[in-house]
Amino acid sequence: MAKIVIDGAEIETEEGANLLKVCLDNDIYIPNLCRLETDETPHASCRLCFVEVAGYKSPVPSCTVAVTDEMVVKTDTEPVRRLQKTGLRFLLSTHKIECKDCPANKQCELQDIAKFLKVGLKPKGLKQRFHETDVDERHPCFTYYPNRCVLCGKCIRVCRQEHGQSTLTFARRGIDTVVSCFQGDDIEKLPCEDYRACAAICPVGALEVK
Ligand code: SF4
Ligand code: SF4
Ligand code: FES
Repeated sequence: MAKIVIDGAEIETEEGANLLKVCLDNDIYIPNLCRLETDETPHASCRLCFVEVAGYKSPVPSCTVAVTDEMVVKTDTEPVRRLQKTGLRFLLSTHKIECKDCPANKQCELQDIAKFLKVGLKPKGLKQRFHETDVDERHPCFTYYPNRCVLCGKCIRVCRQEHGQSTLTFARRGIDTVVSCFQGDDIEKLPCEDYRACAAICPVGALEVK
């Protein structure tokens, strides 16, 4: 058992528990896009879930922190919000805002985070760069929209966790990174039709069931 303090409130939890999960379980919202409950190790790619932990020099992604007894955490400080807004702006710099035509509209975690951080979805002065192709139809069961994808990797990991292998993978590098699917006979043998866990876990509207 560990007693910790988050934003001045004392909370009892398990020693070693994931700090992001403890915050969320106690109704303390931390913006996050890439954490999967079932991940053995944190993916920590979205760079949104920052908090301050006493004794750490700078804010840390809460999804990478294991709770220790007497830990003192602040979730709502100026440096934390600055880092979260920077992370969000980075995501928006490659995100084509087309909410009216998007199936995720009004259930979209990116919209929720932008609202929470009081950042418009089209920030002024933000330089944007998009993938040339808006739609990828190569997967037999799903349509992929690269310009809506936040590259959280949840679809890839959940598919691997469900089936032991994934039909999806990251392809290319840097700003050109996309989710792609393996081609060939194997893709037809996987039970995508029945599970579709990848589309269900997508926090935005980047993966649509055909
Ligand atoms: S993924 Fe979210 S923010 Fe992006 S277009 Fe769809 S609804 Fe809008
Ligand atoms: S398709 Fe969705 S779940 Fe997959 S990496 Fe992109 S945003 Fe994440
Ligand atoms: S949830 Fe922590 S970095 Fe994405």
